[in-house]
Amino acid sequence: MIDLNFNPRIDEEKASKIMEEIKADPMGGWVELPAKTTEEDLQKIHEIADKIKENSEVLVCIGIGGSYLGHRAIIEALRPKSGVEVIYAGNSLSQREQDYIWEQIGDRDFSINVISKSGTTLEPAKAFEFFKAKLAERYGVAEAARRVYATTDAEKGLLHDEAVRDGYTRLTVPDNIGGRYSVLTPVGLLPMAVAGVDIDALISGAKETMENPEHAVKYGFMRYVLGSKGYDTEVFASFEPCTMYFNEWIKQLFGESEGKNHQGVFPASVVYSTDLHSLGQFMQDGRRNLWETIINYPTDELNAKVVKAVLTAHVTGRIPVLKLDVPSFDEKGFGELIYFFEMACATSAKLFGVNPFDQPGVEAYKNELKKLMAEE
Ligand code: PA5
Repeated sequence: MIDLNFNPRIDEEKASKIMEEIKADPMGGWVELPAKTTEEDLQKIHEIADKIKENSEVLVCIGIGGSYLGHRAIIEALRPKSGVEVIYAGNSLSQREQDYIWEQIGDRDFSINVISKSGTTLEPAKAFEFFKAKLAERYGVAEAARRVYATTDAEKGLLHDEAVRDGYTRLTVPDNIGGRYSVLTPVGLLPMAVAGVDIDALISGAKETMENPEHAVKYGFMRYVLGSKGYDTEVFASFEPCTMYFNEWIKQLFGESEGKNHQGVFPASVVYSTDLHSLGQFMQDGRRNLWETIINYPTDELNAKVVKAVLTAHVTGRIPVLKLDVPSFDEKGFGELIYFFEMACATSAKLFGVNPFDQPGVEAYKNELKKLMAEE
């Protein structure tokens, strides 16, 4: 269980009402997902992963936002070694980046996992076009199609239609689970299994928090209280460089879930002790509009002393410091943490009076880009 260094008194009635609302929401499919994921579901993922591992040295995972950050976070943190390298594409529109990714693949055998719930997002669509062409050049059209794994809607969307037409292996993003809550669906499970992450243990960790969500809910309430008192920025601090992408996943989860109707807390992150030598000054002594949430992973003795020193120094510097103690640095611990943040995020978004599961603000940039592209 994720332990807390704080214990706010919360309105229990309100908390259970919010939890009921989240569960009943049409996009609340993630709430019971860990318990509903069966051995057969996981076996299916393992079989597809084995097929990829048999003929590929690289898996190019194409996706953005919730179709990207979760599996990258866990793979980067746990550094599993299955012999297949997962390389990420389609999370920007930079040609420079794309050329670099192609260079990294080099002569190695590769397959593609294209992940897009809507099947229409521009960044992954463009990257898929590029890498699909490379795949066909290298293997011929028929074998290229056998090397494409499409994770998308079960029934609709451009990617779905293409996958059916060209006979790609298909995996489904459940209808009732949005992108940033989808890491424990095939969206994240396939790339993680290919990389060598123990996905069964990850799900069992998530199930543990699902069965004991009290701390997640308390932390959600605490965020709302601090946010309402004028602390408008939350800085997630970890002391393990390999968890940088986990911080990115958390920021996307909170940013897209809460930042609506001019509400929410701005999610930022640091990795110590690296950032003690850059942002440390601001944290200690800058504008007091922020609080810090330390994600305390089990670590070595010296690094643990850094955690203690930072906590004391920052409390003295008048920063509210919340500490979350993660029980283990492995799949089970990260499974617990994933569900913890999902539940906390949905809870605090509800308290802020916004819908945790939509992202209307993302459309504004997309529309502007469409206009510019139409001008060409
Ligand atoms: O959390 C979300 O819903 C978003 O971040 C999406 O995951 C992201 O925009 C990608 O969408 P899609 O999977 O439809 O390509």
